[in-house]
Amino acid sequence: MIVKEHRISLKNVGRIDPEAIGDYLREGGYEGLKRVLGMPPEIIIDELTEANLRGRGGAGFPTGVKERFTSEAYCRHCGPKYIVCNADEGEPGTFKDRIIMENDPHILIEGMIIAAYAVGATSGYIYIRGEYCKSISRIEKALEAAREKGYLGTNIGGSGFDLDLKIRLGAGSYLCGEELTLLESLEGKRGYPRIKPPFPAEHGLWGVPTLINNVETFSQIPFIMTHGAKQYLQLGTPDSPGTKIFTISGDVKRPGYYETKMDVTLGQLINGLAGGMTPGSTFKAALLGGAAGTFVDASALETPMSFDALKKMDAVLGSGAVIVMGHHRSLVDMTRSILDFFKHESCGKCVPCRVGTTILAKMMDEKVSNSSENTALLDRMCAEARYMADSSLCPLGQSPILPLDSLKRTFNQQFQAELKN
Ligand SMILES: Cc1cc2nc3c(=O)[nH]c(=O)nc-3n(C[C@H](O)[C@H](O)[C@H](O)COP(=O)(O)O)c2cc1C
Ligand code: SF4
Repeated sequence: MIVKEHRISLKNVGRIDPEAIGDYLREGGYEGLKRVLGMPPEIIIDELTEANLRGRGGAGFPTGVKERFTSEAYCRHCGPKYIVCNADEGEPGTFKDRIIMENDPHILIEGMIIAAYAVGATSGYIYIRGEYCKSISRIEKALEAAREKGYLGTNIGGSGFDLDLKIRLGAGSYLCGEELTLLESLEGKRGYPRIKPPFPAEHGLWGVPTLINNVETFSQIPFIMTHGAKQYLQLGTPDSPGTKIFTISGDVKRPGYYETKMDVTLGQLINGLAGGMTPGSTFKAALLGGAAGTFVDASALETPMSFDALKKMDAVLGSGAVIVMGHHRSLVDMTRSILDFFKHESCGKCVPCRVGTTILAKMMDEKVSNSSENTALLDRMCAEARYMADSSLCPLGQSPILPLDSLKRTFNQQFQAELKN
């Protein structure tokens, strides 16, 4: 079956001038906001909960639940709550948030204003990856235009609700995309993670209840508040309604970004939207979800790209990155670069990850000098990564086991054969 894109987050991309708020308004922009202002905030949270919107930053956590926690969190000594947008986008192979920010910044801003109103946040930050120069300038201009039109500032739309949003820049640390580390960085501290719990909804920025979501998550909210949860639920699958942006790279004819309903299969993405494999290459593997993701083989081509369908086969959707490898690509080289990445990005705060990521990266080099050990190499790497996952402080230390385990499960023989070459 030929699959087509279905755009919600990207609906205006290529159709409007991102620097002209009038264009966004003409396409129905800020209608969702106008609809909710004046409503009891619980109704908005109920609607998002009914829509079963799940976080697009990687973990798929239900957004309505997170908003309810933040809205109900009570802090006697604290000032107003915060809203934060995670626009750090550091996962390898992922570039969807950049596309939204560069091409339709108001869809993100509108989503944030609605969410802030729902949880009672009056101040917020968009934490953008520092290298994303165009995103930064587009968001800056869009914030200014939204202030001029009265969508930000005091007494928004005469509702008595106040909100301002500011930009803060990340400095290229992968770990600073992890939500609690991001909050530390926003507070001006070194990018070290905090121990959870408490979660940001309860104890977030400067200790105040904070709602933090990914760019793509916020960008789905205007649609839900304009068209309602029921219409949203008609898209995708019951466990993963709505649409998702997939960023496809590697050995396909048309690499790029594609937004579809989440019942699309991996095969439809690769062979349909991305135009199939590059001439002369056949499908060998795909790495789903980036470095903190999982390898799958051709048996996954019929699997829908939804949170739960992938989970059932021990794979992850993660950020929506799909890195496609043709038959000529080396799993060993790919694994080495993933492990070098984790070694580089480990913040070094806890021993299991600081030492573990170094050992894992070294193990890949060992194979060159000691080929008799190669048969058991993947087993030993998995054991090391599992030890790290059990004893590390934060989710980065729990990540290398994901690609390694999936390699062992799916490509054990092939990996060993490649090591011999
Ligand atoms: C090491 C690490 C890096 C992460 N990087 C990002 C990132 O760049 N962008 C993002 O949205 N989420 C990232 N996350 C996930 C966030 O911690 C968090 O789950 C997300 O911001 C929640 O938003 P959501 O509920 O809208 O998905 C990262 C997580 C980890 C462990
Ligand atoms: S698990 Fe790694 S990244 Fe996380 S705190 Fe420990 S050393 Fe730092």
